[in-house]
Amino acid sequence: MPRASEGGCTLAMLQMPRLLTIAIDGPAAAGKSTASKRLAKRLNLALVDTGALYRCVALAAQQQGVGWDSTHEQELGDIAGTLNVRFEFDGEVNKVYLNDEDVSSTIRTAEASDGASKIATLPAVRASLLELQRSLANRPPGAVLEGRDIGTVVLPDAALKFFLVASIEKRVQRRYDELKAAGRDPDWDELLKAETERDKRDSERATAPLKQADDAILIDSSSLTADEVITTMLAEVRKSQKALARSMSANLTKELQASADDAAHAPGAAQQGGDGKPRDCAGGSGNILDALQYV
Ligand code: CDP
Repeated sequence: MPRASEGGCTLAMLQMPRLLTIAIDGPAAAGKSTASKRLAKRLNLALVDTGALYRCVALAAQQQGVGWDSTHEQELGDIAGTLNVRFEFDGEVNKVYLNDEDVSSTIRTAEASDGASKIATLPAVRASLLELQRSLANRPPGAVLEGRDIGTVVLPDAALKFFLVASIEKRVQRRYDELKAAGRDPDWDELLKAETERDKRDSERATAPLKQADDAILIDSSSLTADEVITTMLAEVRKSQKALARSMSANLTKELQASADDAAHAPGAAQQGGDGKPRDCAGGSGNILDALQYV
C-alpha cells in the first residue's frame, strides 16, 4: 500500500504551501500602507488595501445618492456585493479603479474617510466585502492585506500577522505631513478630532472591531522609520518561513524513510526508482528549503 507517496510525489511535497498571505492590521496612519506596499513588492505578492474597498463603497453610495447610515444598510450591502474594484501598481503608487475610473485621490478625502468609517460599522457591508477580500487574497502566490480585521476575521489562518500601532500624536503628525506634501492646508486640531473619532468607531463597533489577533506580532512604529518597520517585518517573514521549511523538511525526511522502508519490504513497488529510493516529483529539485524561500 503506498503509505506516503502519490504518483511519485511525497505527501509533504503535495502539501507545500502555494499561497503566502500576510495580514497587517492597525489604526489609521500607523504606517500600514507604506509597510504593506513595500512588503508586497519585496515578496512579489499582491497588495490588497482593504480600507480602499470600504472607501469605494462609500464613494459608490454617494454617487448613487445612497446615504451612509444604517437605514440604508441593505442597499449599501448590495453596493459592496457588486463592487467593481481593481488595484494596479503605477510605479510606487497602488492605484484604485472603481468601475474602471481612477479614484485613487477621490477616495482619500476627509469626507470619504468619514463615509468609509461609517459604512464599515454595518454588518451587511462587512459580510459582502469579506468574500471579495478572501477571493483577492487567495490568488497564488498570495497577498499582503492591510486593514483592521484581517488577522481576526478575514484571514484568521494567515501565515503571518502584524499589528502596527503608533501614538495618536505621531499618527496625526504623519497625516498632517502627508496632506501638506500634497499641497493642502490641514488643521492639526481638526485632524486630531477626526482621527480620534475614527479610532473610537473602529475599535468600538460590534462587528469585526479593530483588535490585535492573539497570534499577531505587535510593532509600535512611533519611533521607528519606515525602513526599520520593513526590516522588522522581513526578519519575521524569514523566521516563519524557515520554521515552516524546517518542519516540512522533517516531515519529508520521515516520509522518504517510510517509503524506503516500504520499498525494502516490497521489491519492485511502483514508487521506486532503480536505486530503491522513491522517485522525485516531476521537474522538482526536491530541495524543499529552496522552494520555500520567499525572501
Ligand atoms: O488609510 P486609513 O488607515 O486612514 O484608513 P483605511 O485603511 O483606508 O480605512 C478606511 C476606513 O475603512 C477605516 O476607518 C475603517 O473604518 C474601515 N476599514 C475597516 O473597517 N476594516 C478594514 N479591514 C479596513 C478598513
